[in-house]
Amino acid sequence: MTEISESLKKKLAERKTVAQKKAKEKNDKADRKALKKNGKFDNKKLTESSKRYLRRQVKDIYSDKARKDGYRSRAAYKLLEIDDKFQILKGAKSVVDLGAAPGSWSQIAARFADKVIALDKIEMDGIRNVDMITGDFTTDECLEELESMCPAGIDVVISDMAPETSGISSHDHLRQMGLSELAADFAINNLNKGGHFACKIFVGGQEKEYQMMLRKYFEQVKFYKPESSRKDSRETFIVATNFQGA
Ligand SMILES: C[S@@+](CC[C@H](N)C(=O)[O-])C[C@H]1O[C@@H](n2cnc3c(N)ncnc32)[C@H](O)[C@@H]1O
Repeated sequence: MTEISESLKKKLAERKTVAQKKAKEKNDKADRKALKKNGKFDNKKLTESSKRYLRRQVKDIYSDKARKDGYRSRAAYKLLEIDDKFQILKGAKSVVDLGAAPGSWSQIAARFADKVIALDKIEMDGIRNVDMITGDFTTDECLEELESMCPAGIDVVISDMAPETSGISSHDHLRQMGLSELAADFAINNLNKGGHFACKIFVGGQEKEYQMMLRKYFEQVKFYKPESSRKDSRETFIVATNFQGA
C-alpha cells in the first residue's frame, strides 16, 4: 500500500513538472510573439513578469546582435536608427563623438567620415581612423584640447554622454541636461554650416526649453526615441539638422 502511494506521488509530481514546463513554454512563446510584433511592453494585457521578461529580451537581442555584428556595444543600433531616419552621417567629413566609450558610435562614424574624434572620461581601445581623447568634457582643459584638434570645423557632433545615474529621476535629468547643454554649446561654436547635432537626453521637464534653444541655430530640431532604446528608460535623443550658423 505504502509502495503504491509512493509511486503514485512520484507520477503526480512528474505530471506537475511537465504541466509547469508546458505552461512556461506557452507563456514564453506568447511573450516572444508580442516582442516580435512591436517590441512594446507597455501592453496592459501582459503581466509584470512578462514585461520584465520582454525588457530583458530586448536588451539581450541587441547585445547579442552587437556581438555578432562586431560592434562594441548595443548603443550602435541607436545611432544606426538615428542615421536611418535623419541621415546625419552621409557626406560628413569630420565627426566628434562625445561620451564615446566603449566605441560603437565611433565605429559607425569612421565608416563615413575621414576624421573622427572620440572623447570619453574612460580610456578606450583604439579604433582605426579614430583619434581619441581621454578626459572629462566638462573641463576647460579637455574642451581646449578637443577644439585644437578640429581647426577646420566639424560636420557632425554626436553625444551619447550619460552621467552615472542615482536613481532619483529629477536629479539624473538635471545632470544629463547639464551635459547636453555643454554638448550643444560645443556644437554651436564648432559646427560648419549645414552640420548636424544628435544628443542623448533624459526626459524630465527641461527638454522643451532645450529644443527651443536649438531651434535658433538649426533648421529642424526633433526628438527621436529609437526602437533599440529601452521603452522603460527616460532616454531619448534630440536631433538638430542643418546648422544655420552661430
Ligand atoms: C552610454 S555610454 C556611451 C556609449 C557609446 N556611444 C558607444 O557607442 O559605445 C556613455 C559614456 O559617457 C561618458 N561620459 C559621461 N560623462 C562624461 C564626461 N563628463 N566627459 C566625458 N565622457 C563622459 C561615460 O564615461 C560613458 O562611457
